[in-house]
Amino acid sequence: RRRSVITGTGSYLPQTILTNDDLAARLDTSDEWIIERTGIRRRHIAAEGEFTSDLGAEAARRALAAAGCTPDDIDLIVVATATPDQTFPAVATVIQHKLGMTHGVAFDVAAVCSGFLYALTVADALLTTGAHNRALVIGAETFSRLLDWEDRTTAVLFGDGAGAIVLEAQAQAGTTDDRGVLASRLHSDGRYNDLLYVDGGPGSTGSTGHLRMKGKEVFRHAVTNLSSVMGEVLDAAGLAPADVAWVVPHQANLRILEATAKKLGLDPGQVVVTVDSHANTSAASVPLALDTAVRDGRIQPGDLLLLEAMGGGFTWGAAAVRW
Ligand code: ACO
Repeated sequence: RRRSVITGTGSYLPQTILTNDDLAARLDTSDEWIIERTGIRRRHIAAEGEFTSDLGAEAARRALAAAGCTPDDIDLIVVATATPDQTFPAVATVIQHKLGMTHGVAFDVAAVCSGFLYALTVADALLTTGAHNRALVIGAETFSRLLDWEDRTTAVLFGDGAGAIVLEAQAQAGTTDDRGVLASRLHSDGRYNDLLYVDGGPGSTGSTGHLRMKGKEVFRHAVTNLSSVMGEVLDAAGLAPADVAWVVPHQANLRILEATAKKLGLDPGQVVVTVDSHANTSAASVPLALDTAVRDGRIQPGDLLLLEAMGGGFTWGAAAVRW
């Protein structure tokens, strides 16, 4: 039985750091307000001329190095992003070119903050059916380019970055002790478009537009939807919350992370937190958090990981992964 296994992780953050105090110097906000309401202390911002594909390509190179692979070994690239360099082509094909590849299949998925869970699920399906053998799954975003920097209710929440994994099909027995993606579950519900969206695009204003959000209402849906899909994916894998070693969540807000873990009876210490230093990097946040906890040695062989995310649409999803 084929199962997809994560054999390497990598991430990349732009050099420029913007602190809460930097923001307070130009907006009616404060370090205290931002930390208390969100847990965010700073975020990275892409340089002029540095695009989503640059961030994603660098994260991909680091994941390839960690996996001991070269671009020649890859036959599939799936990129989760809501901030492509251009409306088209897909960022995945730009990254394919930047990695020097002319073979394989490369495409983007658009599910905003849940994008990495969607990309992982799609890649897992293409690997386990035998259509492909080894994938790069990348979350890369430059949300700084979608922000209304005059709007304190959204400008303080987001940052830029990218994370990547190498996902490889391996023959396994098919038990819950096997390494790899044990189960994943996705959801979407378009009724809530108006709670979180960008007010631009080719079909509306013709310009890129700005992110708009009703934060309080998004928060309420996030905790309910995330705890529900996390329970669902554990059921699907034949596992229970007590089996989970680490939650690797989308990093939107520290209070969402803690409330969601608590609903499942998990200890806040089991949640990998990067929102303090990265802010919300949308589709990049799950692979960024994963890479952080792999490289600092928290995640160990045999650990059960629960990946989860929710974002605009709404979209939400979770995956159970044995490390
Ligand atoms: N600095 C200072 N004051 C602010 C700021 C700011 N940056 N932003 C808002 N305020 C003010 C508001 O104007 C409001 O003032 P008022 O009471 O005079 O009207 C007050 O602070 C409280 O605002 P609320 O919106 O009620 O604050 P809340 O506690 O809900 O926190 C936040 C807002 C942080 C946006 C929160 O609702 C949240 O994190 N929601 C989740 C949204 C999210 O993370 N979305 C990302 C994508 S989806 C996902 O990833 C899950």
